[in-house]
Amino acid sequence: MAPDTPPSDNPPDLLSDPPFNTAETDRLLSTTRAVRRRLDLNRPVPPQILLDCIDLAEQAPTGGNQSSRRWLVVRDPATKEALAELYREAGGRWISDAYEQVCGTGHHNEKTLRSADHLARNLEHVPAIVLVAIHGVHDGSGRPGLFDSVIQAAWSFCLALRSRGLGSAWTTIHLNAADQVAELLGIPDKVTQIVLLPVAWTTGDEFSPVERQPAADITWFDQWGRTLQHPTDEAPVHADGAGVTVEVDIDAPPEAVWPFINDINLPAHFSDEFQGAEWISTEPAVGATFLGRNRNERMGDWEVVCHVVEYEENRVFAWNSVDPDQPAAQWRFELIPLAGATRLRFSMVLGPGPSGLTAIIETMPDKEAKLVANRQAGQTSNMRRCVEGIRDLVEKGTKP
Ligand SMILES: Cc1cc2nc3c(=O)[nH]c(=O)nc-3n(C[C@H](O)[C@H](O)[C@H](O)COP(=O)(O)O)c2cc1C
Repeated sequence: MAPDTPPSDNPPDLLSDPPFNTAETDRLLSTTRAVRRRLDLNRPVPPQILLDCIDLAEQAPTGGNQSSRRWLVVRDPATKEALAELYREAGGRWISDAYEQVCGTGHHNEKTLRSADHLARNLEHVPAIVLVAIHGVHDGSGRPGLFDSVIQAAWSFCLALRSRGLGSAWTTIHLNAADQVAELLGIPDKVTQIVLLPVAWTTGDEFSPVERQPAADITWFDQWGRTLQHPTDEAPVHADGAGVTVEVDIDAPPEAVWPFINDINLPAHFSDEFQGAEWISTEPAVGATFLGRNRNERMGDWEVVCHVVEYEENRVFAWNSVDPDQPAAQWRFELIPLAGATRLRFSMVLGPGPSGLTAIIETMPDKEAKLVANRQAGQTSNMRRCVEGIRDLVEKGTKP
């Protein structure tokens, strides 16, 4: 039973009439970018705007309701120059070198590096540099504490700036030279620096949202890794697009992992259920088909035709079972590059088409939520064994 809440005779329909203009708040939240090349280096920033934004930022939660955050605004040209030099020594020059390497190559990081290089070269010209810090030293215990009491406030500060036509970029490279920065700015011992925010008016105020992973792919319901593509208010049911995602980080680049993903038989080594597969069509590509053989207690042996729906070397291999358009299940391997390493994501979504599972649900509809959850649990352990097995093979240097 839910605890007693004050009665409300006439609750407002907040879904259709929210308390804020969400078109505007959503625009603010989705377009507060790391601004570097569009910082106006020639227009002074009135300090009162900074204080107003800090007042707003200080509304953010803080552990123990203590007021321990401190904001250091650097405006003096000589101090900014020394700080910019420390930023470059601490990693800014490495960014500039990295940009030189990828300049003109179309590398996926070229745009970000170009922007970060610009900031590293021009930090001293930014009208105000705001360093956010907190009294205390993190004890490494993992208990909520220092960082957790600063980051949300510093981000509120960035949002408040953006809503007034100013911009910033979240930077931390200076932390590699935290001691020298402390000496330069007179920051005492037992104060932890968290983030350095260069602040300026932006040139123009149009910024766009960027592509990020969809919430439905990175949000788990009730158990780690359990996804719902379009959840309803009910307990998870088949029609919610229930699924599972398992992930593992592999200490090797995507090119070293891909041959294992490309081997459709490999998951059979790690699964109780999947027995192996063979190509029906000649080569893997979108539209190609393969036959998967499976076995489990409830359904015995069965075969299923799988249709490749995404295929991009070193990046993604996805297939739908039974019917490509109304699949019994959707499966997907994705390789995400992480500076020399790879995050391997393996995901499965039930349905939306009919399957062995939907046939069983029809015979006992009152048990649907349990049947779906059991299927998710079984696939989680098979799929986890699979990605961990691939990780171990790749990291041992085994040839596929
Ligand atoms: C923890 C953290 C540290 C960062 N450090 C730096 C930095 O030192 N220098 C820099 O130019 N950008 C830094 N960034 C900004 C990211 O590079 C930036 O978020 C990225 O370019 C994506 O741009 P967007 O936020 O506009 O999507 C940092 C961001 C975070 C969250």
